[in-house]
Amino acid sequence: MSDSSDLLFPEAGRDQSALRLVSKEHVSDGVVALTLVHPSGRRLPDWAPGAHIDLVLPAGVTRQYSLCGDRWDPFTYRVAVLREPNGRGGSAYVHDMLMAGDTVGIGGPRNNFQMVPAPKYLFVAGGIGITPLLPMIAQAESMGIEWTLLYGGRTRSSMAFLDELEPYGDRVVVAPQDEVGLLNLSSWFSDAATTDSKAYVCGPGSLLDATESCCSGWPVGYLRTERFVPRVQAAPARTEPFEVELARSATVFTVTSEGSVLDAVRGAGVNVLSSCREGTCGTCATTVLAGEVDHRDSILDDDERAAGDAMFICVSRACSDRLVLDL
Ligand code: FES
Repeated sequence: MSDSSDLLFPEAGRDQSALRLVSKEHVSDGVVALTLVHPSGRRLPDWAPGAHIDLVLPAGVTRQYSLCGDRWDPFTYRVAVLREPNGRGGSAYVHDMLMAGDTVGIGGPRNNFQMVPAPKYLFVAGGIGITPLLPMIAQAESMGIEWTLLYGGRTRSSMAFLDELEPYGDRVVVAPQDEVGLLNLSSWFSDAATTDSKAYVCGPGSLLDATESCCSGWPVGYLRTERFVPRVQAAPARTEPFEVELARSATVFTVTSEGSVLDAVRGAGVNVLSSCREGTCGTCATTVLAGEVDHRDSILDDDERAAGDAMFICVSRACSDRLVLDL
């Protein structure tokens, strides 16, 4: 998880922080790639594969998009946006209204999908989920590390960046659903996986769920997924109110069963940055000093949850009577 101090524009929603859109290019049916630069030509903050930025759209709507350009180009960010016909209007705005020359508010970059060292990487992308994997592939390639990619999509014409993947030859398996059906994950993993390979998977929730069940016997931390749509959660671990103590502010208050920890913290006069408010972007990460967390985010993996030292306070709650936070 990144700390907010390294953010270019830490508070998503502030419109004085913006990048200029220098190009908008159709890269497949329903997907546009946006190239963004600083209006004064300044260098942009460094990022690593797996990072995303927020686009701050009109009416304070923020959406997270993976950086999918060249991480060694310090002046340019690239993201790709899928038009989502049943979305809440963010992608439609980008597709229909945003034009080259416009400025757009930015939050981030942040990285909840960090690439950890491995002797072999297995990448699986579904549709627009290819975006965070492109810089990972470039990094693996530049370091001479073995990798392979299984890339699915509805149709070949809907699959972005096939031209950029073509030079990699048979390390990329392109599997459009209308040609070969649903991805055969178990067969692909059993052919490609070695005991020390790590898998990075991004795509629709159904693909991530299927991958998690396929790799359920893997060691903790060997499968990493990224979700931009929240995972369906079980009921909260407790329905009673619980106390939150803010250690640095010497404040204690009660969080009711209806309210979020984030709102209660703000109600106590302590500002914590937030963006998605649904446990997917990572902005509200908060250090936990004591207490047992009911993790309800779609970011942490099992070992990070078990560590219990951080939580996303927009959605996560308490199992214990009291949580002590480093705020
Ligand atoms: S605001 Fe996005 S995870 Fe909490």
